[in-house]
Formats: sequence, structure tokens, C-alpha cells
Amino acid sequence: MIYLKTPEQIHQMRPAADIISRLMGELASRIEPGVTTRKLDTIAREFIHDNGGKPACLGYEGFPGTLCIEVNETVVHGFPSNYALREGDIIGIDTVVQKDGFMADMCYTFAVGEVAPEVIELCRVTRQSLLEGIAACRPGARIGDIASAVQTYCESRGYGVVREMCGHGIGRDMHESPEVPNYGRRGTGPVIRNGMCLCIEPMITLGKRHIVIEPDGWQCRTRDRLPSAHYEHTLAVIDGRTEQLTTFDYIHQAIPDRFI
Ligand code: MF3
Ligand code: CO
Repeated sequence: MIYLKTPEQIHQMRPAADIISRLMGELASRIEPGVTTRKLDTIAREFIHDNGGKPACLGYEGFPGTLCIEVNETVVHGFPSNYALREGDIIGIDTVVQKDGFMADMCYTFAVGEVAPEVIELCRVTRQSLLEGIAACRPGARIGDIASAVQTYCESRGYGVVREMCGHGIGRDMHESPEVPNYGRRGTGPVIRNGMCLCIEPMITLGKRHIVIEPDGWQCRTRDRLPSAHYEHTLAVIDGRTEQLTTFDYIHQAIPDRFI
């Protein structure tokens, strides 16, 4: 069942989206070789609390952190740990903030120091595929139009599209209907309507698209251990148009030279 939100309820989602967007700017300036992912997790937890929000991933079905940490071949749901970032890594940071009873979900993949050009290109293509998906997200269009836009953009450039994980509706819950896959056919799936709040989150691989889930049931990596990139925004369809509730602007302000 898809929960359509009133304009007033969508308005209530903005504070969560604002906190998470500013959090990403804060984390952007802290990413450098030597920093542990646990340190980033602590910074995030404190930032969210200081801003009156709640870290929605922490404890969610037993998830052990505020942030999902996706270093190199990790696709999604990696745990914060004592791993210290190294020059040449990429790190996706994916998290969810709750505020005033509503959720916002966002992910950005950062470069740590100098990163191989083909890996930067993977990140660029993944971020652009998110924008292609957002452009396809219009009232009257279908979820399959988003899926097809992401898939076509990435596969035509030779990248793998992870199929086991997908975007989703969002609102009072982190994951609501409908699912928003990153592969599919135009003209299929639910019709996009005013009041829908959606997360689009392409997970794109440099090599093959296949993944392995670790025995802990969470951490997910590429089977071939080649890098994977991941970007995500929370969107709301309101007044006949799609509005991006989350923004990468704070990341851009924090690290203009390293912005992907
Ligand atoms: N964006 C991620 C998702 O939609 C956030 C997961 S939080 C976790 O799956 F707690 F489930 F890890
Ligand atoms: Co999500």
C-alpha cells in the first residue's frame, strides 16, 4: 500500500531532509586518509542528536551504526569499524534521519585523496544516473520509467546495475511502498502521483553486477570485489512536480575541489 502524503505532511519531511543534507556536508570535510569509519559514525550520531533528530539506522533490525559505510567493493549496509580510510578509497555514506516523525534517506560516495580515474568516472556516472532517474520521476509517469532511465544510462556505459537492492517509498517509515528498482522497463509499475515520497538510489559497479551478502546478513559487496558507487536522494511529488528534499549543496560547499 502506497501512503500518499498531503502537502502539509511533505512539509513536515523537510526538517529531516535538511538535517541529513547538512550532516553530509559536515562529514565531507572530515573524510581524509587515516580517519576511521567509526569516527565518522560518532560524528554523525552527535550531529543528528545536536540538531534534534534521531539516527534511524542505529538499531534498525539490529543494524550496529548510524551510518552505512560502503568502502570500495562494499555495495550497501557496511558497518562502521576501526578501518582507517586510505588514499585511493571511495566511501559511500548512506544514512537515514528521523525528525518530527518523518524520515529522510540520503547517500553520497566520496573520494579519499587521489582516486583512480576509472573509479572517479564510475562515481560520476552513478551520480548522473540518479539525476536521470529524478528527471524521469514525474506525475503521470511510472516507476519503471525511473528504473529504465537509471539502467539505460549505466549499462550503455558498460557498468553493472545491482538488482537485489532498490530504492523505495519513504515517510513515517524508512522503507515504504513502492519499491524503486534501478532496472526495468518503461511504462511498467505504479503510476507516480502527487503525494508520493520516493528514494532513488542507484548502486552501480565497475565490474559485474553480482553481489554477495556476508554471513552477518547485512554487509553486501561485489562478487568480483571491484568497486561500487551509490548515491541517493529523497524526493517528494507535490503540486504536479518532483521536488528534491535532500541536497548535495552542502557537500559541494564543503569540498568544492573534491566534489564528484
Ligand atoms: N538507504 C538505506 C536503505 O534504504 C538505509 C539503510 S539503514 C539500515 O536500505 F539501517 F537499514 F542499514
Ligand atoms: Co534508501
